Amino acid sequence: MSNPVSTTLEGRVAVIEINNPPVNAASHAVREGLINAVLDADANEDADIIVVYGGGSTFIAGADIKEFGKPPQAPHLPNLIDEMEAISTPTVVALHGTALGGGLEVALGSHYRIALPTAKFGLPEVNLGLLPGAGGTQRLPRVVPIAKAAQMMTTGAMIGAQEALELGLVDEIAEGSDVRAAGIAYANKLLSEGAGVRPTSARAPSPVAEGELDAIRAKVSKAARGLIAPLKIMDAIEAAITLPFAEGVMRERALFMELMADDQRSAMIHAFFSERQVGKVPELKSGTPRDISVMGVVGGGTMGAGIATSALLAGLEVTLAERDTDAADKAFATVVGHLDGALKRGKLNQKKYEAIVGGKFRTTTDYADFADVDLVIEAVFESMDVKKDVFGQLDKICKPGAILASNTSYLDIDEIAAMTNRPEDVIGLHFFSPAHMMRLLEIVVGDKTSDDVVASGFALAKKMRKIAVRSGVCDGFIGNRILNTYAKALNGAVLAGASPYDVDRAMENFGLAMGLFRVADLAGLDIGWANRKRMAATRDPREQYSEFHDKLCELGRFGRKTGRGFYIYGADRSETKDQEVLDMIAAERDAKGIAPREISDQEIIDRYMAAMVNESAKVVGEGIALRPLDVDITLMNGYGFPRWRGGPLHYADTVGIQKILNDIKTFQKEDDFFWQPAPLLEKLAAEGKTFSDLNG
Ligand code: 3HC
Ligand code: NAI
Repeated sequence: MSNPVSTTLEGRVAVIEINNPPVNAASHAVREGLINAVLDADANEDADIIVVYGGGSTFIAGADIKEFGKPPQAPHLPNLIDEMEAISTPTVVALHGTALGGGLEVALGSHYRIALPTAKFGLPEVNLGLLPGAGGTQRLPRVVPIAKAAQMMTTGAMIGAQEALELGLVDEIAEGSDVRAAGIAYANKLLSEGAGVRPTSARAPSPVAEGELDAIRAKVSKAARGLIAPLKIMDAIEAAITLPFAEGVMRERALFMELMADDQRSAMIHAFFSERQVGKVPELKSGTPRDISVMGVVGGGTMGAGIATSALLAGLEVTLAERDTDAADKAFATVVGHLDGALKRGKLNQKKYEAIVGGKFRTTTDYADFADVDLVIEAVFESMDVKKDVFGQLDKICKPGAILASNTSYLDIDEIAAMTNRPEDVIGLHFFSPAHMMRLLEIVVGDKTSDDVVASGFALAKKMRKIAVRSGVCDGFIGNRILNTYAKALNGAVLAGASPYDVDRAMENFGLAMGLFRVADLAGLDIGWANRKRMAATRDPREQYSEFHDKLCELGRFGRKTGRGFYIYGADRSETKDQEVLDMIAAERDAKGIAPREISDQEIIDRYMAAMVNESAKVVGEGIALRPLDVDITLMNGYGFPRWRGGPLHYADTVGIQKILNDIKTFQKEDDFFWQPAPLLEKLAAEGKTFSDLNG
């Protein structure tokens, strides 16, 4: 392989360029090339100063993640940085694009740092279940305040050039857009000033107030929710403060190796690559995206208003239709409320805000206003009849080539498409609530949906900064179908003896932000109620049906919005358990002749995971999801499944497919109808294969 690092001499400046597209990751070849180039330049009597920069669009975006899990090859990044820092020739890094992870660590090991105004900096290792392992945990606290160092490393958040300058993380911001020229000019300036080397490791750590570290650690611990890397990062920061640099680095190394060996690391790296893989679907090879700049939305309730907001934030023009003027005005106000929030959070500037409320966003009660839209998304009530009526009308009004999309949560896209004379232009675009915040979008491909329309859906998702997952047509698509199944398993655990509060506690300890029943209360129990009524006629009589959700709904207890559901919600935002709910469940057990037994938290999780993995395997086996990774991405981004567990099918690989199958067979003894092992699960177990073997 050719050397990705090259050196040229510009006067007395040795200029080292790193070229490893697309993100200049510090692969073995880069590390070897860089250390040789730096040592050669140091030995070169014609070079008085060194500039290192990244070719292409960025500085180094980190260690090469693809090398993780393989035997490490020298030179190792920490040693390279130590050697760079120790040479006698002053070194400058010129930064543009993103200097992330190992890239920022190289910059911290360099003597001087200059950046273009658009450059961004961060130590995002925590998002991979790791800590900065090339001296970053020891050098950053010597440059920026301890609280800032902790925040950057434990959240992985990036900062911009201006903030970096204010913090002293960069020395200067350059004018213009030529990073090479900026580096050389700054190097010459340093030479004229007689600047010498300035190793970061020789600096004292930033001061820390009494009790400050404990306070930061407590905050980090609360936010970590099962993820271990943030706490190890705090250990490393403590070492930076209390130990000499050389010992601190050794401590960092030991902590890094612990994390490297942990399942959380492989889960989070699986999540990272899956997020990039999930958008690679067959239709994108043959399909050409259509131009979508003007959008229609039908229905301005919870979802329609959120979808409209998301589209407006992505720069589209939006017309939203409601049933009458009052509803249209209400929808307008909801969208403006969302936009106000976006303005406050800096997601939108004042000029764009004014352009939106001043005309880019309109409401109407007349579908005729959709005549010129490029795409229309229907978000009316979840009723096949209502949706069919809407699609019949849209087909007549929308221009040829316009895409007709439905945000349905469960309904058959093919049946909806059959109401039109253009089923090839019909697609499901299933957003998640709140649609302007949640990143997941299921793209539901019908039998007749054209490749161009699928490609358009993926292009729109990118514009809206969503993570799009391709799904085939089935009741509930990938996510809600799997949710319904594990919800049934957990309702079963409640009938068997657990309380809803036990279930929530077990799930939250497992790493979910909210357990099943808290989520149900938040979403509104009436949603599931309506869906169960829809399915009642086709429900198999062999299914063990739990009635307690319906009973709550019959009492008008729809969850948070009515102040009462599985929990009682006080005006002071308090949340208490409800004895009446427990009594209702006990009565149902009595009526069904079930003698309640002790159900451990472990059993709750075993049931939850066995049901989820089993249904996921069916979803993959039937081709509803293209690959196991599509399921993992859906559950992690739409259903709160902990990223550090890598999604249900990565989890199954981690604990062993045979263990999941054994659990299913144990539960099957209680309920043979529900616990039918998925054929794909049995096949993988028999062949000794894993889900990851199917990811390609
Ligand atoms: N190593 C290997 N490949 C990487 C990579 C890395 N660090 N970062 C990105 N890539 C790959 C992606 O997988 C993708 O490959 P593909 O085209 O085959 O799918 C390609 O580069 C482009 O990446 P994106 O699609 O993400 O491009 P964007 O322009 O949207 O984003 C980015 C660029 C902001 C750099 C983003 O890729 C990113 O956040 N990368 C990860 C950064 C990171 O986590 N760095 C820390 C690494 S760990 C470390 O440094 C340990 C050290 O402390 C010892
Ligand atoms: P909602 O009840 O909040 O809003 C529906 C809106 O549609 C109402 O404002 C109603 O006035 C309007 N409407 C009904 N018929 C109409 C018509 N013919 N023309 C114009 N407007 C009409 O419902 P929500 O929650 O927004 O759901 C909408 C759709 O999105 C449903 O299909 C639902 O399954 C789906 N969905 C809901 C999610 C949620 O969490 N609420 C999540 C993902 C999808």
